[in-house]
Order: sequence, then C-alpha cells, then structure tokens
Amino acid sequence: MDAMTLLHQRRSMGKLAGPAPTAEQLEALYRAALRAPDHKEMTPYRFIEISGEGLDRLGELFARADYQANPHIDDATLDAARKKPKRAPMIIAVIACVTPDLPKVPPVEQIISAGCAAHAMLYAAFAQGLGAMWRTGTYAHDKTVWRGLGLGEHEELIGYLYLGQPGGRYPQPPVRDPQTYVERWQ
Ligand SMILES: Cc1cc2nc3c(=O)[nH]c(=O)nc-3n(C[C@H](O)[C@H](O)[C@H](O)COP(=O)(O)O)c2cc1C
Repeated sequence: MDAMTLLHQRRSMGKLAGPAPTAEQLEALYRAALRAPDHKEMTPYRFIEISGEGLDRLGELFARADYQANPHIDDATLDAARKKPKRAPMIIAVIACVTPDLPKVPPVEQIISAGCAAHAMLYAAFAQGLGAMWRTGTYAHDKTVWRGLGLGEHEELIGYLYLGQPGGRYPQPPVRDPQTYVERWQ
C-alpha cells in the first residue's frame, strides 16, 4: 500500500476477530509509534499489551470500576463490563507519561505526542491488513482502572487500541471536502 492511499483510506474497525497481531506486526506498530513527532525527544508514552487471560484481568478491572462507582449495580451490567475487552483478541493501552513543569514542553504537548504515537499505530495496523480501533469511554478515565493498570502519578491513559483481524463489513470512510476546513492568508 502506498503512503498516500494509507493516509487517505485508513479506517477504524470495531468488529475484530482473532488471531491477535503477530510479534512482527506488533514490532512494526511500535516502530511507527516511536516515529511520532516529539518535542525534545521525550518519548512521553508507554504501552501495555493485553491478550489472552490479560483480557479477563482487564474486564475484571472494568467491572470493579463500575462496582466502585455504584455498589448497587446489577450483575448483568457487571458481566457486560467484564466482556468489553473481549471485543478484540488484543488491546494495547496507550499511556502518556507526562513530565510536569517543563516550560518548553508543557503537558499538553506530551499528551499530543502520545496521541500521535497511537495514531501512527493505527496506520501501521491498517497498512499490515489488521483491523484497529481507538476506544476510550469511562474506563479510560477511571482512577480504579488506572491504579489497576499500574499508572504512575504523572501518567494518563489516553486510549485502548483494539486490534485484530478485520471481522466485518465496514462502510467507506466519509468523503470530506478539505476546502471547508482551510482558511488562507496570502
Ligand atoms: C481519543 C479518541 C477516543 C475515542 N473513543 C471512542 C470510543 O470510546 N468509542 C467509539 O466508538 N469510538 C471512539 N473513538 C472514535 C473511533 O476510534 C473512530 O475514530 C471513529 O469511529 C471514526 O472512524 P474512522 O477512524 O474510521 O474515521 C475515539 C477516537 C479518539 C481519537
């Protein structure tokens, strides 16, 4: 796939089947992430690769987060939370590792850099014929989940990349007119 086709055609795939990406495919994803724009070369991110029983552990964390938010929650809702990570054979949690109080690289720049790394991984997945989808939702912002994943004081979970084999039919991406988004100063 040539670069412009990749840039113009990448799309998210929410319905994913097994198997999980191979070690080689994952290496290519991480290499792409590590080429993200990065002010002062801080590589302000890290990843947790979750598959197999790790998906069950993550599901338990999601259920625990729901229970702590509402101890009266019903069992069916907790079960639904447990199953969420099973929507893909692998999830990579992308974590921004923020160094505070850096005048030239404020936290927002470091978080953007981590977001660029995640985006690069989506492209690397698509280029290799994998399906991928960036998800957040309440479990991405929940402190119980963050603690369970071992996030440090200055770390933030910026998203879960669900990864696997394309498992459904996907609509064509919307065609948008770039001119609508551009103002020119000439
Ligand atoms: C930071 C971020 C968080 C997202 N969280 C979710 C989510 O929790 N659930 C969801 O359905 N889509 C979420 N999305 C959107 C999808 O990943 C995807 O971009 C969207 O469905 C559009 O599809 P496309 O990437 O093919 O254009 C999120 C996107 C971003 C950038």
